Amino acid sequence: MTSSKSVDPHGDGPHASETVANSAEHRWAIIVGLIILSLIAMMVFTGVYWSSMPPSRVETVDVKTLHLKGEFVENNLGTSIEKDGRVIVRLIAQQYSFSPQCIVVPAGISVTFRGTSTDAIHGFVVGRTNANTMLIPGFVSTFTTSFPKTGEQLMPCHEYCGTGHEAMWAKVQVIPPDEFFAKAKAAERLSCVPR
Ligand code: CUA
Repeated sequence: MTSSKSVDPHGDGPHASETVANSAEHRWAIIVGLIILSLIAMMVFTGVYWSSMPPSRVETVDVKTLHLKGEFVENNLGTSIEKDGRVIVRLIAQQYSFSPQCIVVPAGISVTFRGTSTDAIHGFVVGRTNANTMLIPGFVSTFTTSFPKTGEQLMPCHEYCGTGHEAMWAKVQVIPPDEFFAKAKAAERLSCVPR
């Protein structure tokens, strides 16, 4: 470090270095201002965009009658093949378990998850796949994905939902499609919960 008092490269007094410092300061003020403005613009854009079409808050469901009527009654939970051929997994999260506790899906075929919660906000992720959503009381979360590999995956709750949160998880069994469709012929709702 050299002192600005002793070194003056242009030899025209202390005012020159002051001018250089001022213009550098001015330049950086503009750059920082632009960065802040672009961050604000990003926040506004994502806020408006996601609140106008949030992925998990499109459909609502009445928590009070969830277990009595509609698609989330107990015997409708699990994996089914709809009339149009789509594979749908319906599930419910509650403190501190998922229903069903073991979900069975075919490998390599697109599978739609439809889930909700009866109490707190829960969520889940399936192993190292991109199957990942929050489950919010009063709303149906839905997404479509497919599992390329067969095998068993763990499905933990990933939203802190109370004292039992760490113990809240389910399993997902990804089975070969022919095995899946054979099982689907025998039962309307599939799961791998041991009976
Ligand atoms: Cu349910 Cu954490």
